[in-house]
Amino acid sequence: MKQIETDVNEKLIPVPANITSVLRGVWSMGALTAATNLKIFDALADGPEKAEVIAERCGITLAAARVIARALAGLDLLTLEPLSERFSLSEEAAIYLVSDQPLYLGHYIEVHSKIQSHWQSLEQVARSGEPVTRVNEEGDAQSFFPALAASLFAMNYSHASQVADRFQALIPEDRPFRVLDLACGSGVWSIPLAKESAGVKVDALDFEAVLDVTRRFTENNGVAHSYQYLAGDWRQVELGEERYDLVLLGHILHSEGIEDSGALLDAVTRALKKGGHVVIAEFVIGDCGTKPAAVAMFAINMFILTSRGCIFSQKELSNMLKDRGYENIEPLAENTSYEAMVLIGKKKS
Ligand SMILES: C[S@@+](CC[C@H](N)C(=O)[O-])C[C@H]1O[C@@H](n2cnc3c(N)ncnc32)[C@H](O)[C@@H]1O
Repeated sequence: MKQIETDVNEKLIPVPANITSVLRGVWSMGALTAATNLKIFDALADGPEKAEVIAERCGITLAAARVIARALAGLDLLTLEPLSERFSLSEEAAIYLVSDQPLYLGHYIEVHSKIQSHWQSLEQVARSGEPVTRVNEEGDAQSFFPALAASLFAMNYSHASQVADRFQALIPEDRPFRVLDLACGSGVWSIPLAKESAGVKVDALDFEAVLDVTRRFTENNGVAHSYQYLAGDWRQVELGEERYDLVLLGHILHSEGIEDSGALLDAVTRALKKGGHVVIAEFVIGDCGTKPAAVAMFAINMFILTSRGCIFSQKELSNMLKDRGYENIEPLAENTSYEAMVLIGKKKS
C-alpha cells in the first residue's frame, strides 16, 4: 500500500465527507422506516409533545424516543422547540407520514425497503449484465407492480392534481373529454381530473393484476363511473386513432427504455386527436447527466430491475416529442428542485 505523505507543508488532506454522508444514507432510511413502523409520527399528529409522551404512546424506551426524534428533526421531518423540549411534525410529515392521512406513504416505505433488498445484487448485475428481475415484462410485472402502483398514489398525487388544474379549463361542456391513462397503476394521474368533471371519460390501461388496484382507487375516490379498463401490455392493446384529448404517461417511459419509449410515443401520437395533449411524468436528469444524484441512482435501480430501463433528460424527452410533431412543449412547473417532473406537449392541429 502507498505510504501517505504527512509533510505538514503539503496541501491539506480533505475529510471524507461525501463518502461518510453516502454511507450514512442507509441510516436515514432505517430511522424513517422504524419511526413509521413505531408510529412516532402518529404520536405527534395532534400537536407537539415531549419525548416522554412519544415513548409512552409508541411503547418504546425514553432513550430511544429521544435519539430517534432528534435524528428525525435533523432530517427536517420533525422540529424540536428547544425551550419546551417538544417535538412537532414538519408540514411534509403531517401530510405523508401520519397513518390515517389520505396521502400516507407508509406503503411506499415498505415497498421501498423491498426494492432496496435487490440492491444487494448490484455487483452481480454489473458483472453479468443481467438484471435480477425484469419488471418491464409482463410475468414479473404482474407480481411486482400491484403493491408498488398502489403505494405510488400518495407519491404522485401532488403533481397529478396540478395536472388536473392545468387541464380543467380545456374540459368541454358539450362533449366528453377523453383521457387515456396509460400504465395507470392506481389511476393517480387521471383521478384528480375525473373529479373535476363528470364529462371526463378515462380509459385506464395496465396489466390485469394492476387494474384491480385501479378499480379500488377509482371506487374509493368516487369516480369509478367515469372509467373503462383496458387490460394488457400496451403493445398488444389497440389504442385507436385520434380518439383521445389527453394521454397520461405517468412514470412508464423509464421502464421501457429509449427504443420502446419511441414506439410507445408513436402509438400515443396516433391515438391522440389533433390539438390533444400528452403528459409525461418522469424522473429527469440534468443535461450534465449526473445530477440530481437521486435520478442518477434511479438509473441504477432500472439497471437492477429491468432489461432495458433508463432515465431521460428534459431535452431528450422534448426532442422525442418534437420529432413526432408536438408543439408548446413545456414543463408543468419551472425550476422545481424535486427529482420528478411533468412535461406537457400538444399534438399539432
Ligand atoms: C411505476 S408504475 C406507475 C404507475 C402510475 N402511472 C403512477 O405514476 O403512479 C408503472 C406502471 O406501468 C405498468 N406497466 C409496465 N409495463 C407495462 C406494459 N408493457 N403495458 C402496460 N402497463 C405497463 C405497471 O404495471 C405499473 O402499473
